[in-house]
Amino acid sequence: MAFKQDLAERLEKHGQGHLLRSWDDLDDAGREALAAEVASIDFDHLSRLVAELVKGEGARAEVDTDRVRPIDVVRMPQTDAERADRRRATEAGEEALAAGEVGVVVVAGGSGTRLGFPGPKGTFPIGPVSSASLFQIHAEKVVALGRRYGKQPPLYVMTSHENHDATVRFFEEHDRFGLDHVRFFVQGRMPAVDLATGAVLLAGPGQVAMSPDGHGGTLAALAAPGGEGCKPSCLDEMGDRGVRTLFYFQVDNPMVEIADPTFIGLHRRADAEMSLKVIEKLAPDEKVGVVVDVDGRPQIIEYSDLPRPLAEARNEEGQLAYWAGSIAIHVLERSFVQRLVGVHRLPFHRAVKKVPYLGEAGELVRPAEPNAVKFEQFIFDALPEARGYVVVETDRAVEFEPLKNAVGPDSPATVHQRMSDLFGSWLEQAGAVVPRRPDGTVPFAVEISPLFALDAHELKGKVEPGTTIERPIYLR
Ligand code: UTP
Repeated sequence: MAFKQDLAERLEKHGQGHLLRSWDDLDDAGREALAAEVASIDFDHLSRLVAELVKGEGARAEVDTDRVRPIDVVRMPQTDAERADRRRATEAGEEALAAGEVGVVVVAGGSGTRLGFPGPKGTFPIGPVSSASLFQIHAEKVVALGRRYGKQPPLYVMTSHENHDATVRFFEEHDRFGLDHVRFFVQGRMPAVDLATGAVLLAGPGQVAMSPDGHGGTLAALAAPGGEGCKPSCLDEMGDRGVRTLFYFQVDNPMVEIADPTFIGLHRRADAEMSLKVIEKLAPDEKVGVVVDVDGRPQIIEYSDLPRPLAEARNEEGQLAYWAGSIAIHVLERSFVQRLVGVHRLPFHRAVKKVPYLGEAGELVRPAEPNAVKFEQFIFDALPEARGYVVVETDRAVEFEPLKNAVGPDSPATVHQRMSDLFGSWLEQAGAVVPRRPDGTVPFAVEISPLFALDAHELKGKVEPGTTIERPIYLR
């Protein structure tokens, strides 16, 4: 009884006493689980977040436009000199890969609510012909890198409490896709709160509605001690393996050029601590975060926070002044992550989402409209802390088409088309003839396994020049 009273006092102090509503109906195990969950939550911190991000002014990030400038970007090479310079950067990146100094981190802890797929998003069958999963495509790229450079980069997969077991099972069922070293690490969690009141939601009787703490949770999770036994943290393990540089990407983009040596080389040559790839934003209202310079430091402003005058500003040539759209592909120095987690906590943002919850009468409510605020950290908030950085332009047709929605933009249909278009162009570069629709798209599915060719260059010599591609094809 005293136990319940202590808990109740602690929760009441923060206006969250309702979390004990089902206490009397729970058995001992249920009470212990609830008490442990409550103990894992920092309610002082949560109350501050609710005051700021749910009830207060901080719900919308303020941008001081006077301090914002366009950022310097390493643009796509146009001249021979620029191309030669890129080649030198590529060589530096290739040396790092051959020396085994590069590790790969994929974040796959998101809930994938918009896609609505019943399983971890990484297990979604996205190959336009093969139906290979996102995880398979990524893993095959890592295996292919190992073959090319003689050292396979270790792969670190961030999961959430919700999808960890299913993710590990999936890799085991597929013999880890031939990977030499893959390690799964679980990200942190935060309670979800009611959008109107800030009350923590219950997911079931005596069960707090917890959600993953955003892709920014990667940094703390990489530094956290390994769960089972006394495994070292991922960061320490990377250190032991001689990994200095981390290539970070998000599971939902099958086009990502994993551990792109040019990007790694440009980052290393600049002695950068964190770097990022950008694409040219096409219209002021395109929904992509923009990289800007604030007081001499790089910062990403989310599309929803970018003030209209900045979004619409144009330079003398008539191009958008703030065009550098982030595609969530980063390179980070391991030492930077290590330094940062010790001294700096990334800020939390609010994400308004639909979260099922236990109603007053004990019934499970599945809301039709967003009803809750989740608190998430964003990886790119680490950028202003970096002592050096490089922003590198890439071509969206080559490297960016994320799977977000079940239909419409960024859906399986658009991803299939974009992949077929890219692989079609690789085949053309290898001398094959590929039919195109009047709008330039390829009229059927084309797919190339990373194990067959990792890029257009590698495909050359593997396809008979003059071959006409007439129907769906999967090269593997
Ligand atoms: P999104 O923000 O697009 O979220 O994540 P999502 O979970 O995939 O989809 P919705 O918003 O619920 O529909 C971008 C990337 O960051 C990862 C996701 O797995 C995805 O690769 N992520 C996101 C995490 O790893 N953890 C998080 O807490 C959030």
